[in-house]
Amino acid sequence: MFVPLLLSAAVAAAVPTVIERDSSPVSVAKDAPDTAGAAILRPFVSFSIELAFFPDYAGNLSKPNRFSNQLLDNLGDLQGVKPYLRVGGNTQDFALYDPALKTSVNGTIVPAVSMDYPYILYIGPSFFESYLTLPGSKFSHGFNMAKNTTAAKNSLLATVPLACKALKDGKLMHWEFGNEPDLYSTTTPYPVRPAGWSEQDYVNNWLSGTEMIRRKLAQSCPEMASDEMFKFLAPSFAGIGNSLDPVKTWEDGLDSDKDIALNSMHNYMGGANQPGVTLQKTLMNHTKIVEVVAQHANLSRVLSEKGLTKDIPYILGEMNSLYNEGKPGLSNSFGAALWGVDFNLYCASQSIRRTHMHQGTDYRYASWQPVQTSKTTIGTKAPYYGNVMVAAMMRGEADSSVQVVNLPMPSETDGAYAAYVDGKLARIAVINMQEFNYSTAAESRPSAKYTFQLPDVSARSLSLQRLMANGSDAITGISWDGWSYNYNLKAGAPVRLDNVTIGETVSVGSKGEVELELPLSSGAILNFL
Ligand SMILES: *[C@@H]1O[C@H](CO)[C@@H](O)[C@H](O)[C@H]1NC(C)=O
Ligand SMILES: *[C@@H]1O[C@H](CO)[C@@H](O)[C@H](O)[C@H]1NC(C)=O
Ligand SMILES: *[C@@H]1O[C@H](CO)[C@@H](O)[C@H](O)[C@H]1NC(C)=O
Ligand SMILES: *[C@@H]1O[C@H](CO)[C@@H](O)[C@H](O)[C@H]1NC(C)=O
Ligand SMILES: *[C@@H]1O[C@H](CO)[C@@H](O)[C@H](O)[C@H]1NC(C)=O
Ligand SMILES: *[C@@H]1O[C@H](CO)[C@@H](O)[C@H](O)[C@H]1NC(C)=O
Ligand SMILES: *[C@@H]1O[C@H](CO)[C@@H](O)[C@H](O)[C@H]1NC(C)=O
Ligand SMILES: *[C@@H]1O[C@H](CO)[C@@H](O)[C@H](O)[C@H]1NC(C)=O
Repeated sequence: MFVPLLLSAAVAAAVPTVIERDSSPVSVAKDAPDTAGAAILRPFVSFSIELAFFPDYAGNLSKPNRFSNQLLDNLGDLQGVKPYLRVGGNTQDFALYDPALKTSVNGTIVPAVSMDYPYILYIGPSFFESYLTLPGSKFSHGFNMAKNTTAAKNSLLATVPLACKALKDGKLMHWEFGNEPDLYSTTTPYPVRPAGWSEQDYVNNWLSGTEMIRRKLAQSCPEMASDEMFKFLAPSFAGIGNSLDPVKTWEDGLDSDKDIALNSMHNYMGGANQPGVTLQKTLMNHTKIVEVVAQHANLSRVLSEKGLTKDIPYILGEMNSLYNEGKPGLSNSFGAALWGVDFNLYCASQSIRRTHMHQGTDYRYASWQPVQTSKTTIGTKAPYYGNVMVAAMMRGEADSSVQVVNLPMPSETDGAYAAYVDGKLARIAVINMQEFNYSTAAESRPSAKYTFQLPDVSARSLSLQRLMANGSDAITGISWDGWSYNYNLKAGAPVRLDNVTIGETVSVGSKGEVELELPLSSGAILNFL
């Protein structure tokens, strides 16, 4: 049992406290070990955009959202491939098509459902222009499954030609039909399927709907109706343990048409309004992250063992910190960015091969606010910097294999990972998640010391890049390797700050040992290649 050693307070007054993490260094293998996750899909860092807000994020042809495009390009430059965008979410299952609508969306809030997104929602022809404004990204378009009237069916069929024309020529990732159907019969206040709606009912509904979409595609964009092109992400369940069991769903024939490319599930750490949710306990907590991701890793393993998802990668098609669009002070803080780094890297280490962090206008957990509103200032938000560090960890050529290994740490507030590119050690990431509230702290900021035992690397020193802010409660003043991506500096383009240390190196000891110190509530990457 290891007990953190705090140096005396007298020393702390002059020199910041250093917390020794463990006396025994953590060994890192030179070649990707068996414990490594499967190679990530490129891109790994991806987003899910709430359908009603997609025009805010992407803009339209006469006014493309260049800020969003810049932020996506930054991540593309770091990880090698621009993020993919899944366009969907709750509002995907509310949207009806209005061919006469002059605007891209016409949404009406119904307070009994949510104050954060419209329950009554129409999309017009110009909605589909938003797929043309972010060059290099690929998209999934989410069709409405929940609305089940003749009008809804006609509306779905009317949007197929618009969606396929917008997404042809390489912009389509895959299609999606229905969001979180495992909540359809239980959602309040308006369930969209009867109680007892079963896995088999869902599968039958999904198959008949997707077959209908394919017939329509064969007329409007025949090249996209081929076996190779006609693929879905599914089942897009909210989670494991709701009214539909994912294993039974696959057993009941979800993939009987062999058109599922990605096994997509959703994840949140908890709810914004759930009692007892705190930054330290719910987000900045490696033990909790391991516990949550283990359910997905287990499901993925069970499905593979049963031969139900052969060659179908497991992804999180929608995820973020806290459902109900995040909690102010938590989900928009630097602490949530650190959670995002640990969560996403841990997913990669467990063979969850891509993650789409969910976004919406005015959402508390958003990585960026794409437009100015009366509630939220346009800008790059703290969680984006977590996306940046994950992208930096995943760097590689588009055709390279990147694998991530979780390096076990003794404290539940630490995460550490090694990244292997084409099987060779490339980087180590360390995340310190011990909460340091700079706005209430009386003392100077302590650091934690980490020691790694490296294989015989020839380098005598390694470069270090830091994810930094004043503390876990910071919502501004955040940097990655001295770069700011703030809107008010250069509209999201990287700007090197002059008040942050950069160009640090860490020396490698004669026996291959390296030591690094991280201020509490910060992250770093050590680079080998
Ligand atoms: C394009 O976006 C601009 C800015 O949001 C908006 O004023 C305009 O109406 C949009 N055009 C269409 C066709 O929706
Ligand atoms: C927008 O939707 C609301 C609610 O259905 C409707 O009353 C209104 O007429 C619609 N506006 C337009 C411009 O279609
Ligand atoms: C509508 O829902 C019922 C079950 O409530 C299902 O049997 C049917 O296939 C659905 N139709 C469409 C077009 O989704
Ligand atoms: C971290 O999460 C674990 C598992 O949920 C929990 O037992 C533990 O109390 C949490 N730690 C803190 C500091 O809240
Ligand atoms: C793993 O998943 C299977 C199938 O859903 C379930 O029966 C089992 O309880 C799960 N095991 C763990 C440890 O979660
Ligand atoms: C940090 O701030 C949060 C929220 O205000 C508080 O709950 C927590 O106790 C604080 N932590 C420390 C170490 O002061
Ligand atoms: C961070 O701390 C520095 C030094 O105390 C201070 O000048 C700066 O304003 C702080 N930044 C924020 C965003 O609070
Ligand atoms: C560094 O400068 C940026 C941009 O002016 C500011 O937001 C941030 O708070 C500063 N950070 C520190 C640690 O002083």
